[in-house]
Amino acid sequence: MKIAIIGGGNMGEAFAKGIHRHFSGGDFELCVAEKNVEKHLAFHSLEIVTTSRNLDAVDNADVVILAVKPVDMEATCRDISVHLPGKCVVISIAAGVKLAALKEWLASDRVARTMPNLLASIGKSTTVLYSEIKDTELRMLVRKILESIGSAHEVASENEIDMATAISGCGPAYVWYFMEKMIAAGVAIGLDAEVAKALTLQTFEGASTYATGTPVGASPGGENFDPTSMRLKVASKGGSTEQAIHVFDEKNVEGIIDEAIRAAYARAAGQER
Ligand SMILES: NC(=O)c1ccc[n+]([C@@H]2O[C@H](COP(=O)([O-])OP(=O)(O)OC[C@H]3O[C@@H](n4cnc5c(N)ncnc54)[C@H](OP(=O)(O)O)[C@@H]3O)[C@@H](O)[C@H]2O)c1
Repeated sequence: MKIAIIGGGNMGEAFAKGIHRHFSGGDFELCVAEKNVEKHLAFHSLEIVTTSRNLDAVDNADVVILAVKPVDMEATCRDISVHLPGKCVVISIAAGVKLAALKEWLASDRVARTMPNLLASIGKSTTVLYSEIKDTELRMLVRKILESIGSAHEVASENEIDMATAISGCGPAYVWYFMEKMIAAGVAIGLDAEVAKALTLQTFEGASTYATGTPVGASPGGENFDPTSMRLKVASKGGSTEQAIHVFDEKNVEGIIDEAIRAAYARAAGQER
C-alpha cells in the first residue's frame, strides 16, 4: 500500500510519524510531498521518503492525505486531480474546507473529510471523520489509516466536523495555553520557573491519567466520566482550591470558554463572528 502526504508542516509531520510508527515493517510505502525542501530533513531523519513534486507522491498512491493549509487546498486539489489513480482515496484534514468543494476540485467521490489533532505524532489523535463513500472496503481503509494515529469517530453530519474542530482539533492548544498561564502565575507568586514548569506538567499528566484510569474517571466519554466529582475531591469546603474556583466563577471563565469555543466553531464553519 502506498500512502502519500501532501504538505509536510506541523500536521503532515505528525501524521507521517504516527503512520510510520504504526505501519513500519509491513508492506507499505510512505511519501511526503513538501514544497519547502528545508522541511524535508525532519522526515529524512526517520527514513521517510520526501519529494517536492506532489505528482510524484500521488503516483500509484492508494491513499492521499491532504495536509496543506485551507487556503492552499483548492490549488493543491486541482493540481493532483487528473493524476489521482482511480483506486485512490483522499483524506482531507483541512479545517473548514467542505466535502462538496473537495470532491469538485479533485473530480472524485472517493474523499473523506476529517479533523485530527497534533497528537497524531504520538498516536493519540482523536479524529472525527465524515464521508459519503459507499464502498465498505474503502471506508474501512480510511478508518485503518486514522486508527494508526489514534482513535477515529465517524459522524453522521458534516457540520459535526466543524464542531469537533472547535473541541478536539484546536483542543491541545487550549490545554497548552492553560499550562502557559499556570506557569506564569506560579512564577509571579515566587516559584522558580523550572519548578513551576515541572509542577504544572506533572499535574496535567497525572490529572489526565486519573481521568481515564480510575473508577470516577473511567474512559473518556464513558458513562462514569465525571469531571465535576473529580474536581470536588480536590476542592474541599473553605480550602485553597475552592478560593481559586470561586475566582474562575466570579470572572465567568465558563462564559469565556463558551465564547472561545463558539468563535472557533464559527471560524471552522466559515461563519462571521
Ligand atoms: N495544526 C493543527 O493542530 C491542526 C489540527 C487539525 C487540522 N489541521 C489542518 O491541517 C492542515 C495543515 O496545518 P499545519 O498546521 O500542518 O500547517 P503548516 O505547518 O503550514 O503545514 C502546511 C505545509 O504545506 C506546505 N504546502 C503548501 N502548499 C503546498 C503544496 N501545494 N504542495 C505541497 N506542500 C504545500 C506548506 O509550505 P509553506 O509553509 O512553504 O507554504 C507547509 O509546509 C490545515 O489545513 C489545518 O486546517 C491542523
